[in-house]
Amino acid sequence: MRVAISTGGGDAPGLNAVIRAIVLSCHQRGWETFGIRRGYDGLYPQDSLLVPAIPTPPFPPDRREGSNGGGLIPLDPERVRGITHLGGTILGTTNRGNPFRWPARQPDGSTVELDRSDELVASFRAHGFDALIAIGGDGSLSIAHRLWQKGVPLVGVPKTIDNDVWGTESTFGFDTAVATATDAIDKVHSTAESHDRVMVVELMGRHAGWITLHSGLSGSADVILIPEIPFDIEKVCEKIREREARGRLFSIVAVAEGARPIDGAPVLRQVAGAGTVERLGGIGALVAEGIAERTGKETRSLVLGHLQRGGSPTTFDRLLGLRFGSHAVRTVADGEFGHVVVSRPPLVTRIPLDEVVGRTKLVPLDSGIILTARNLGVSLGD
Ligand code: F6P
Repeated sequence: MRVAISTGGGDAPGLNAVIRAIVLSCHQRGWETFGIRRGYDGLYPQDSLLVPAIPTPPFPPDRREGSNGGGLIPLDPERVRGITHLGGTILGTTNRGNPFRWPARQPDGSTVELDRSDELVASFRAHGFDALIAIGGDGSLSIAHRLWQKGVPLVGVPKTIDNDVWGTESTFGFDTAVATATDAIDKVHSTAESHDRVMVVELMGRHAGWITLHSGLSGSADVILIPEIPFDIEKVCEKIREREARGRLFSIVAVAEGARPIDGAPVLRQVAGAGTVERLGGIGALVAEGIAERTGKETRSLVLGHLQRGGSPTTFDRLLGLRFGSHAVRTVADGEFGHVVVSRPPLVTRIPLDEVVGRTKLVPLDSGIILTARNLGVSLGD
């Protein structure tokens, strides 16, 4: 059996743990494993005449194997030794690698989206692969679903720090991101208090407020704004004034990048282009401005950004990654293609990809964590 592994979309701490578990579990069964570099890019012929819309450098030689820079890395227990605790992905990743919408530059400089999925499937078969384990978030799992519909024997593994993949209690990377975000909120507390300022911290979470809610609560933020609850800036200011009246002259606001005011839309840093999705960012600065204007308080904002995706995975994320990788191989062994591995505590199990794609796991408004926030007097901006 020859198993290919791909990591697509944004990286997340715990990816390397998944890769290691897949390789070791396959090795136990006498199977071979290969890593596809940069999403699916490593499967396209290196001499393709197509030019990507955004220039991509050739694959560098693989650090450990000393390989010649090809798009596939043979993976064995030696190659994945000592990587469980490392952030990122040893395979590299890209969020411009949708084979159904591959952005190519035309001779006249314009960009077109090409469907390269047939080429990809042909290459997968030509390499003699028997199974693909695709590790990715909502976008990558939708791609995986379409590849499976085209006949690729495939198992998905959910990955995102945002924790918004439908059907799984958790995704690896989330716990690490929350720990980083909580640490940042802890740190802005002392400077906010020293200066009697309002500090607004913008956190990741395109569609769902999991990171912001968990870290905001753990870090004792006074206001938490998430995409699921459009906020009223007047309500946010009410909370700040109410604290002021009690002699609490500083406040901390945690806001998800995808949060939006009741009368507005999420703030975009970049609109979607050929083969790329829109990039969010800037709501923190807007909230800070709104607060400063209305309350007269000195206000600062910061964007935590990709710090949340970096660093060594927490114990929880390492274990979840190892369990996901191991279960993905069991799923291949059982021939349950077209499934995705999910966490349903205390179990790690699998469900059909059909159930997952096109859906987002938002924070339920009646969930215990929302009720806890309200009970603690945290403003959710509504
Ligand atoms: O999906 C994970 C995520 O971290 C989002 O929260 C964020 O909007 C996005 O990735 C940013 O991705 P990139 O900077 O890689 O385009």
